[in-house]
Amino acid sequence: MDSIENKVVFITGGGSGIGLALGRRLAERKAKVMLADLDLQRLDQAKKLLSGQGLVVETTYCDVADCESVKEAALETVDRFGKVHVLVNNAGVTLAGKPGEIPLNDWRWIVDINLMGVVYGVETFVPLIQAHGEGGHIINTASMAGHLAAPAMSPYNATKFAVVGYSETIKQDLEKDNIGVSVLCPAWVRTDIHNTGRNKPSVSFGNSLDKLGQQGDAASGLWKQVATAIENGLDPNLVAEWTIESLLENRFYIFTHPEMREMMAQRFHLLDTEFTTLEQDKRFLKRN
Ligand SMILES: NC(=O)c1ccc[n+]([C@@H]2O[C@H](COP(=O)([O-])OP(=O)(O)OC[C@H]3O[C@@H](n4cnc5c(N)ncnc54)[C@H](O)[C@@H]3O)[C@@H](O)[C@H]2O)c1
Repeated sequence: MDSIENKVVFITGGGSGIGLALGRRLAERKAKVMLADLDLQRLDQAKKLLSGQGLVVETTYCDVADCESVKEAALETVDRFGKVHVLVNNAGVTLAGKPGEIPLNDWRWIVDINLMGVVYGVETFVPLIQAHGEGGHIINTASMAGHLAAPAMSPYNATKFAVVGYSETIKQDLEKDNIGVSVLCPAWVRTDIHNTGRNKPSVSFGNSLDKLGQQGDAASGLWKQVATAIENGLDPNLVAEWTIESLLENRFYIFTHPEMREMMAQRFHLLDTEFTTLEQDKRFLKRN
């Protein structure tokens, strides 16, 4: 995509953090922005904040875990702007815990938002982008947690690895339709993401976060480190600027933390070592 000016962009999780920053930077570049979120209060605050900075955005309710809600928000966007060019599947939540201690309802909650939310977005918006024939782009927000696993983060890692794999596939599938795909993979960004656990089902069912935290010392200890890293993380506006530049360059992987390169290299090295071991065991070499 050569320019974002006058393009219609739909952003999920647009009420806060990275989604809100993307909305701001896109509106500054004269894109037509629809911020979508399930938190109406945040959406309202976001709209007022941006309008105070002289920026115009539209907002709509959307729960990405509910495909009907995504469809309704998409139709509202088409009613308002006539078409959609760019979909940013950005809404996401976190969940930590040790295997054997994570309530299955919490697992379903994070999979429904972090993975199925992305799938619902793609399934809903791809036909709308194809219909106008002007091409478009999809940005899926994964994470460095979609490439590197950390202890006590299995639900978050599982969903973000899935979003990376899903994005790698649909990039190939949508190329002929002139729909580009990128996957945003930040590490620590200064947002509210570490507080999303307050919305998980096991808390809604009457437990307090403190009580749940005491169940797994490893998880709660790690969680405090994660919270500190996020509070000292990158400015979301910088992540937004880089993401838009990457979209205009049609870059697929959008990384934001150069210091993660060494950990990625260690992962590749581990994989490569296993292939060397396999080759040395002659039983698996190519047979005639
Ligand atoms: N902040 C980080 O350090 C970091 C790092 C890597 C990846 N990410 C990813 O970035 C994305 C954005 O998160 P953020 O850091 O800006 O956090 P955030 O909590 O500030 O913003 C997330 C927004 O998503 C909304 N949301 C949550 N569930 C939703 C649902 N079911 N439907 C619609 N909206 C919903 C929230 O209301 C919130 O406004 C997430 O996918 C997250 O996993 C964040």
